[in-house]
Amino acid sequence: MRKKIVAGNWKMNLTFNEAEDLLDEIVDLLENETIDAQVIVCPPYPYLEMASDIAKESNFFVGAQNISPFEAGAYTGEVSSSMLTSMEITHCIIGHSERRKYFNEDDKMLTAKINQSLEHKIIPIFCVGEALPEREAGDHFEVVRHQVRHGLFHLDTDEFEKVIIAYEPVWAIGTGVTASPEQAKEMHDYIRSLIAERYGKDIADKTIILYGGSCNSKNAKEIFAQEGVDGGLIGGASLIPEEFLAICKAAK
Ligand code: PGA
Repeated sequence: MRKKIVAGNWKMNLTFNEAEDLLDEIVDLLENETIDAQVIVCPPYPYLEMASDIAKESNFFVGAQNISPFEAGAYTGEVSSSMLTSMEITHCIIGHSERRKYFNEDDKMLTAKINQSLEHKIIPIFCVGEALPEREAGDHFEVVRHQVRHGLFHLDTDEFEKVIIAYEPVWAIGTGVTASPEQAKEMHDYIRSLIAERYGKDIADKTIILYGGSCNSKNAKEIFAQEGVDGGLIGGASLIPEEFLAICKAAK
């Protein structure tokens, strides 16, 4: 059976002190609850070391929100996978729609990032999802197929098995509009069918696929209850401790 995962994507929010407070609150809340899901918190880079220290005393993992497509060297401002590994960071979000849109991350760059992360034993959380006009035009399956194939299908089976996929329809991210449970299930099933075609049914059945986009304490339970939805990638609601906890509890 696939494990459930809830990952919090803090994006570019919070000062150092606010981040520390939020982590402390998350630790307190997690300590007093039984959570079936694996919990991952993805703060901005400068807070990763603090988060990783706090996580050692708690039961969550720490992920980054981005990594460099390069190994090392003269790439001012970049952070490499090996740097993250050396800080015991276990996961990294790759291909988030905000990075595709604002930082022009294309298939080639994302492939390089995926390769870098796996080479250094970082588990990629690879995001895919269509924009509103693409859904309205009925192109959403084609868009997601392209993203999954070009981002991941160069991997051999051993590497692919380590990847987590997050389906995040762009029109649902930060908008308050969530995909319906049926829309989420439909796309998760479709992604799993693509994986089955490429890697076989066993691997497809093992692949963890998260849903992301305006997930909150009110809608998480129904979305996560869909067969094939293995938890969530949570933006805004992951900054509110009680919300985040309720979402973590909804994943079972
Ligand atoms: P949201 O963001 O939950 O604020 O919609 C999700 C994401 O971008 O990962």
